[in-house]
Order: sequence, then structure tokens, then C-alpha cells
Amino acid sequence: MNLVGTTAATVVPRPRRWSESAGSAVLSDGLVIEAGAPCEGLGRLLARELSAPTGWSVGAVEPGTAPGANKVSIGLSPALGPEEYRLTVSTAGVSVLGGSAAGAFYGTRTLLQLLPAELGRRAPLGQVGQVGLPATEVEDGPRFSWRGVGLDVARHFMPKRFLFELVDLAALHKLNVLHLHLTDDQGWRFQVDGYPMLTAVGAWRRESPVGHYRDGVSDGRPHGGFYTKADLSELVSYAAERHVTVLPEVDMPGHMQAAIAAYPELGNLTSPLEVFTSWGISDHVLNMEEPTLRFCADVLDELMDLFPSQYVHIGGDECPTTEWSSSPAARQRATDLGLDGPEQLQGWFTARMAEVLAQRGRSLAAWDEVMDAGAPPGSLIVVWRAEHARRIALAAARHGHDVVMAPQTSCYFDWAYEDSPDEPVAIQPALSVETVYGFEPVPEGLEEEHHSRVRGAQCQLWTEYVGTPEHAEYMYFPRLCAFSEAVWSDGSRDWPAFEERLGQHVARLDARGTNYRPLSGPTPGQARVWHQPATPGRLPGTD
Ligand code: ACM
Repeated sequence: MNLVGTTAATVVPRPRRWSESAGSAVLSDGLVIEAGAPCEGLGRLLARELSAPTGWSVGAVEPGTAPGANKVSIGLSPALGPEEYRLTVSTAGVSVLGGSAAGAFYGTRTLLQLLPAELGRRAPLGQVGQVGLPATEVEDGPRFSWRGVGLDVARHFMPKRFLFELVDLAALHKLNVLHLHLTDDQGWRFQVDGYPMLTAVGAWRRESPVGHYRDGVSDGRPHGGFYTKADLSELVSYAAERHVTVLPEVDMPGHMQAAIAAYPELGNLTSPLEVFTSWGISDHVLNMEEPTLRFCADVLDELMDLFPSQYVHIGGDECPTTEWSSSPAARQRATDLGLDGPEQLQGWFTARMAEVLAQRGRSLAAWDEVMDAGAPPGSLIVVWRAEHARRIALAAARHGHDVVMAPQTSCYFDWAYEDSPDEPVAIQPALSVETVYGFEPVPEGLEEEHHSRVRGAQCQLWTEYVGTPEHAEYMYFPRLCAFSEAVWSDGSRDWPAFEERLGQHVARLDARGTNYRPLSGPTPGQARVWHQPATPGRLPGTD
């Protein structure tokens, strides 16, 4: 079986420039990947990725040592920016040049998309002879340096294998940050040696809501899970091989009921709590006493041992101050600290956590609420609240903060695709693929001189209503494909053209087995409501 590849016109996210010429590269069994430092790892990865679906023997060798044209040469070019690449497909074979190992990696992601979609499978469909790739030259690079995908593993624990798949899918779309929301009221999801009850107690909840939580119905079934340190180290190195940085988030001082259930002395009450069994925001937050701050610092220390990311996300969103206001100890603490009232405790807490991170050369990332008290210098603000997004983004950038945009109305993939009873229960209607595609990360009115403060954007999947990897894939795809164009490709948009490309691109998702939502709407198996087909079919030949 001989196969023919496709053109750069079908690649998602859309490359900056490409040209086509006569001829083709012909790849076959015995293919050689030439890759020198610092791309040897990439050479080995690509060899695995190409041998699995073809059954070919694919070897990785030193640069300049492969005779003939049945080869992919990977190297660096000082003429290219750090994440840029040039991919050349010709009768002499395939060449990928990157401005860095990351750039070369993105060149290989484009190469994978130029292959016939069926080579996105894990094993050959039959004997694969030659694969012809039409001659082309692609020059490409990202618009933004922060291209994130967020996953909430606290509301529903997601198995480790899904995190690896999500890294692969993110990398295929040239995204480079996986933001893991590791803790919340409803569950604590990572091992902390100094505080074993966080996982022994905090990782498990008695039951969860069924349907929309406002309906007040529960399933009566326990739920939970957590990642060991080995799991997370493995994930970090798997992601690094694919130029994805894992950004860990421990949400504090609110969204902490699971930790307080494990260690009641962290809270403001004398009576014990259980891990939160509803969705929504718990009123139970950390107290602001020194032992609690030591706990937070210890947890962050263990987190920094595992995650090498420059930024560590400390949450900071949706922290109710009702408990602090009614707690004599919290009010006294605020007075002792010279604050005007307990509602100022969060700003003080955030500054203390920034110091903890700075001691190890790291920087703080947090949700945009931390701007309310004036965020510590050097912190990165992740903007999410739709109604304030533009105002906060402008203020943060003008104050010299780096900003990552994740406004709900463009980036919250826990919203339904459509306001339709067919869609699975979701927190909100509706965020269509077209709306995501139209997302412009730089807020209107931001002066040119501050544009570079907008590092990029993140799509977010909160999982109150998303209990399985299959459902998570449904919520991500194909919105993530559209999002990748908003953060990678230049600022121009052409929805009809994208829709057509997406129609071809989903063949790549089909080959992987990704549970994406068809543009026409959920399949009967994905929908919430069962619809009988309007007209039953006829057996062939019975007319
Ligand atoms: C958030 O959605 N609470 C960041």
C-alpha cells in the first residue's frame, strides 16, 4: 500500500507561510532520522512516531551520515527565532530546521500533519510501502509564547494516562503549557510527604452531584484519586520531551476545603469538615495563622521539587471572607498585621507566598482576583472573569505584570457548545467553536508598548460536569483546534476557510480515537437526549 500526504494548507494551527513546488519526498522502510545536539531526543521521538503506524524500521543517526533521500534531517538555524522552524519537503528528503529544539519540534508536528491522516494511528492498517509527500517549504512560528491548556483534576480526578494523551494532543496543536488545577474544595490530588492526610483524606469525597448541582441530587458514590510524586515526575518529563511546561496550581487561600477536611487546624472552625460534596464555592477557607502559612510554604516546597516551571500558580480566586469576618482570631490577626480589616488578609497572604516562591527563584502566577489587592511585582496574572477581563488585563499589563488571557466567554471549555438539550449538562451555555476561533488575546485598547505583556492565552476545562477522559475530549475538541489558531497563527481570521480545514483535520483526531464533537452536533452517543432517526434506513438491494 502506497500512501500520499497532504499540503500545508490543511495544517492546524495554520502556518505563517508555505509554498508548494513540483516533485515529492518519498519515505519508506529504512527511513533515517538525522538529528544532532540538542535534537537527538526529538530524533528518537520522531523515529518512534513514524515507525509505529508504518511498521517500518526507522533509525536515528548523527547529522550528515545518512546517504540517499529516504531521510528526515533535523537541525538548528541561527536565522530563526526560538520557536520558529522551516520545514522543507523535496526530492532530497525532509529537512526540519528550528531556531531552537522547540522550533524543530514544532516543525516535526507539522510534518506529522502532512502525513496521510491514517498514519496518526498506533499500528499500521496494512503493509505500508512508500509514503509520498508533496514538495513544500513551510516557514512558521508562534504569535504568542504562552499557549496553554488548563485541566481541573480536582473536581474529577483524571487518570494519569489521559494527562499523557492531553500532552500529545496539545503538542500536536503546538500548545506549550499544561496547567493542572491540582487542588480544590472537592479534592486534593497530589502526594505531599509532609502531610499524608492530604491524600489519605483529602483525595476522596463521599459523593458528587448528579445533573446540575442546583437540582440538589447526589449520586451516593465515592469519588477520588491522586497522583504520586513518581506519576508527576513522569508527566513532567513526558511533557518536557514535547516542549510542554506543566504549570502546577495549588488553589489558596480559598477552594481549600479538602485540605481543611484532612487537617482541621488549617480552617477557621472548631468542628471538622468533610471534603466538599457539592459544586460551587465553599465558604470554608484557610485561617491566616503562622502554622497555616508554614503548611502552605511546605506544600509549595514539595511542589517546586517536582515541577521545574518558572511559575507556580497559587490560585487566589473566589476566596470568600465571611469566615474571616466572623472569626475573632482572623480579625485580631488583621489588626496585628496593621491591615484595615480581615478582607485585606488575602493580599497579605499572596505577598507571603510570592516570597516563598522567590526564595527558590520562582515566580507567582494567580487568577486575576489577586489584582484586587495589588499583586506582588513580577507575578503573572491569569485573567478569567469575563465581566472584568478587559479592565483587569489592561490594568495588569500597564502595571508591568505579564498577563495570560483566559476569559470565560472565549476560553472556558466547560461551557456547552450550544444552548441545546442535546448537549451534555454543563455549567453554562454556550461557547461555540466559531466564537473560540474569533478570540483575540490582546485586549482592545491596550497600548502598543504594553502588548508584549500579553504572553498568550489558555483554554480551561473545569470538570464539575466532566467525569471522564472521553467527556473531557468532547469538551476540548474541536474547540482546542480553534484555540490553537488564536494563540499560534497570525491575527487574521477566516471562519469559512477554517471550518473547511477543520473538516479535514478531524480525520487526524479520528485516527487517534479522540472523542471530539462533530461540528454538526453531538453524535447520539455523545448527546444527552436520545433521538430516533427520522427515517429508518433500508437494507441495500431491497428497493
Ligand atoms: C475560576 O474559574 N474560578 C478561575
